[in-house]
Amino acid sequence: MLVWEDDVKNTPSQAPRATPPAHSFDPLPVLQPAVSAQPQAAQALAPPRALPGDGEPSSTRRVNVADKRIINGQTDVNQLVPFKYKWAWEKYLASCANHWMPNEVSMSRDIATWKDPNGLSEDERRIIKRNLGFFVTADSLAANNIVLGTYRHITAPECRQFMLRQAFEEAIHTHAYQYIVESLGLDESEIFNAYHEIDSIREKDEFLIPFIDAIMDPQFKTGTPEADQTLLKSLIVFACLMEGLFFYVGFTQILSMGRQNKMTGAAEQYQYILRDESMHCNFGIDVINQIKLENPHLWTPAFKAEIKALFDRAVELEYRYAEDTMPRGVLGLNASMFKGYLRFIANRRATQIGLDALFPNEENPFPWMSEMIDLKKERNFFETRVIDYQTGGALAWD
Ligand SMILES: [Fe+2]
Ligand SMILES: [Fe+2]
Repeated sequence: MLVWEDDVKNTPSQAPRATPPAHSFDPLPVLQPAVSAQPQAAQALAPPRALPGDGEPSSTRRVNVADKRIINGQTDVNQLVPFKYKWAWEKYLASCANHWMPNEVSMSRDIATWKDPNGLSEDERRIIKRNLGFFVTADSLAANNIVLGTYRHITAPECRQFMLRQAFEEAIHTHAYQYIVESLGLDESEIFNAYHEIDSIREKDEFLIPFIDAIMDPQFKTGTPEADQTLLKSLIVFACLMEGLFFYVGFTQILSMGRQNKMTGAAEQYQYILRDESMHCNFGIDVINQIKLENPHLWTPAFKAEIKALFDRAVELEYRYAEDTMPRGVLGLNASMFKGYLRFIANRRATQIGLDALFPNEENPFPWMSEMIDLKKERNFFETRVIDYQTGGALAWD
């Protein structure tokens, strides 16, 4: 089972084909004219195009596993099997096995704590509001990115299957944040508009949005090195920098509260979300590495330099968010501890996709977070939770 500590050796190992992939495809959609005015729909049904040197449309042929590709594949995307990318299918199964719903988690203690004037300090309340302010819209952005952006460009049905599950999990996450906002009786307008009104949140979203827009553009299609790099960059930004970095200050803060026996209902939900996001991040990294294997010409020195610059910028933005959410030390945490943590995480993400560590020799100041993310432990923990839930119990926080 993959956890976020896993390195790239756990990522897919299929060797790249000896023959370089074609980059200029005949863009002829077979399902004309009905879909000719709907390029996204046409691509969803893709690729019914002829294989190079083969006069027979691929949609009429049986799928040969060796022909499957993560991007620019020409096999029928509607045929899940034969499997080529088993890691994607296994992650789909693991995600389904960890299904949860927000309203299974009792918020009664959190509500009492929030209403008690002495239940939380002002700094702790600020952390909760900032956290929800970022996350209530962040997961919606993530869902849009998958459903309206990435999905149609991925031609491996095993990966599409995972992404469908991932999209539903993003809906569950938005539901969870909304459920916390509603339970605590927070000002919905303030929280849901935070991504417009709070600089440290808006800046993170403004960093992300161009990478969503690029692949959501109906005119955008893969098949040239430039376009494939655009897609690869978007995948890296989402897996490594959004799900793999931008969530980590917030997760650490709320899980720290849970460890101090405060806001345990919210913390329990964040732990399930963290486990889901860890899986999303690892899936995205597997996809990125597989695309690299199948398309090594995309991984140019200039492209790598561009990615490194994006990592630097993301660390900077997340650190700014840490400073804004923690103007003073709180919960045994302070902003400067996060500088090291974010650099440590950025190093992990960089090495997971085959880049050098950006900030050598950074230590993890929060080793307990790795345990929180450990899927194997959490699966046991999840089973425990279900039993506890049925008996009205709650999580115990170390
Ligand atoms: Fe999410
Ligand atoms: Fe996610």
